[in-house]
Amino acid sequence: MKNLEKVLVTGGLGYIGTILCEELQKINIDPIIIDNNLYNLAGKESKFINLDITDKDRLETILEKYASESSVIIHLAGIVGDPACLVDTKKAIKINCIGTRNIVELAKKYDLKILHASTCSLYGAENCTPDSPLTEDANIFPIDFYGQTKYQQERFILELADKFCIFRLGTAYGLSPRMRFDLVLNTFAAKASKNESLTVFGGSQYRPFIHVRDIARAFIYAIQNDLEGIFNIVSENLTILEVASLIHKLYKINIEISDLIHDPRNYIADNKKILNSGFKFDWSIEDGINEMVEFCKEIDYKQNKYNNQKLIELLQIDETKILITGGTGRLGNACKKILPNAQYPTRLELDLQKPETIINYFNTHAINVIIHLAAMTGIVDCENNKAKAFDINVNGTRRLIETAAKSGNIKHFILVSTACVFPGSDPEAMEDEDSIPNPKNYYSVTKLLQEEIVKSYNSPQMKITIIRTNFSSMPWPYPKAFIDRYGTYLFPVGVAKGLRDIIIYKPENTIIHICGDRKLSMYEYAQAGGSEVEPLTLNEYEGPPLTINMSLTTKYWKQYRLEDSEPI
Ligand SMILES: NC(=O)c1ccc[n+]([C@@H]2O[C@H](COP(=O)([O-])OP(=O)(O)OC[C@H]3O[C@@H](n4cnc5c(N)ncnc54)[C@H](O)[C@@H]3O)[C@@H](O)[C@H]2O)c1
Repeated sequence: MKNLEKVLVTGGLGYIGTILCEELQKINIDPIIIDNNLYNLAGKESKFINLDITDKDRLETILEKYASESSVIIHLAGIVGDPACLVDTKKAIKINCIGTRNIVELAKKYDLKILHASTCSLYGAENCTPDSPLTEDANIFPIDFYGQTKYQQERFILELADKFCIFRLGTAYGLSPRMRFDLVLNTFAAKASKNESLTVFGGSQYRPFIHVRDIARAFIYAIQNDLEGIFNIVSENLTILEVASLIHKLYKINIEISDLIHDPRNYIADNKKILNSGFKFDWSIEDGINEMVEFCKEIDYKQNKYNNQKLIELLQIDETKILITGGTGRLGNACKKILPNAQYPTRLELDLQKPETIINYFNTHAINVIIHLAAMTGIVDCENNKAKAFDINVNGTRRLIETAAKSGNIKHFILVSTACVFPGSDPEAMEDEDSIPNPKNYYSVTKLLQEEIVKSYNSPQMKITIIRTNFSSMPWPYPKAFIDRYGTYLFPVGVAKGLRDIIIYKPENTIIHICGDRKLSMYEYAQAGGSEVEPLTLNEYEGPPLTINMSLTTKYWKQYRLEDSEPI
């Protein structure tokens, strides 16, 4: 082996990487960190080479430079976890697969041994029991997207690398300077520290676990003992329910079992190979839970910075230039909270009735996504001023989308339509995206016409999404609310969160319903929003026809909980 004073570590700023570098320094090995600081979490004091592993030329310059001083590269960099990878699958493939291929090819060229962080997720949904744990030569059948990218990484190493050691890690837990609370054991312990009950989906599925410091120790052990081949790095295998029960025993925390999400991943990994090599694990799950519960008392574990999926979502939004029309309306104001960096032009800057303002706005601003909210929305107003309603809602939308299409820069045009395109006369109806609209008042007619215009612009260059939803002002602006008009309402902020999801996840279907998880009356909705209102019935109402039931459901999207407006 060459010199061991330095070791290259990709992803050295991450959850595992920061602990590994700490442990390397303890034994006087200098870690050379290669990381692109993907999540902007590194402090000013962090010492690292800011480099994206997908940039092969720059990567080569660095590996060439350090190849004489180091004989090992530990490869941790990547997008980690299935939810994070699913936010942008192309990015995940580019980084996890192509980035890893770069590492493998260059490591070979510069005679570096690769120590690689793989995962037990590769084993997929095996029907295994504690008597028949999966050894390193068990079938590989990853069932999630992240696992599939990790499988591809192993293939590159097995096919191309000369010297390697692959660690199939269990789910990590434990404290790290760069904490992650999207890992089941850390999240359960964090909940326990706040006395929150633990929701267990299913529960009987087995998972292998490993403390983050034991991972770091195992990598160092592999360097010192020149380990070769594939090893499961797992200290204990427990079912998710067993983990929750242990926390219940230690901290008397409630457990709720739910079948809302089915998690088919189930695997017990055999750790005899690494134990037989002489390695010993230092940490038990119970120790890990105890240190985590203590630590979490002081922090808000729900912050975005602790969750890879939320971090990648934020990056996606930061990279998008969003124009939102109708920014002063109810939904517009809610969008300002959820999408604060979007552009919200005033009527003076962009007036749907003045084509020159639209053209001028597009000529002077960089935009690639539009959320079109601006409309004349009062039912009575529209009925009494049909020409104006038509000009703003229908012609205005045509002017906007025509200009958007001509600009050639708009990748996604999102129109916010309404549940009122349905007749709303059947108290039992739950309309989905394939139900047939049949509007009952002029406002709803103009919204349906908007939908038709926008649909006709769908193209590979400019994706169209039509959102139907229903929400009202909160706090409730009137003294009374109907007890006999219904909907699957969301609060405006909930709809804004839904729109944010539409920008990030770009649904395949053109029409999407963003709706709440339950049908309730307007009166109940107003109360759920904390407003004190008097009950009102349709018998007491005089005016243009109103819908009775505006309940939506969705075939193609997730539903949102009314209260926190997070997806179920
Ligand atoms: N944490 C676990 O439970 C676990 C389990 C099995 C395997 N693994 C594997 O261990 C490794 C590290 O996981 P982690 O938990 O520390 O994840 P992490 O998300 O905390 O760290 C990943 C690091 O990679 C960096 N990175 C991402 N894209 C990059 C790019 N294009 N160029 C350079 N750097 C980039 C990020 O900035 C981050 O510092 C990953 O390969 C992961 O698949 C982790």
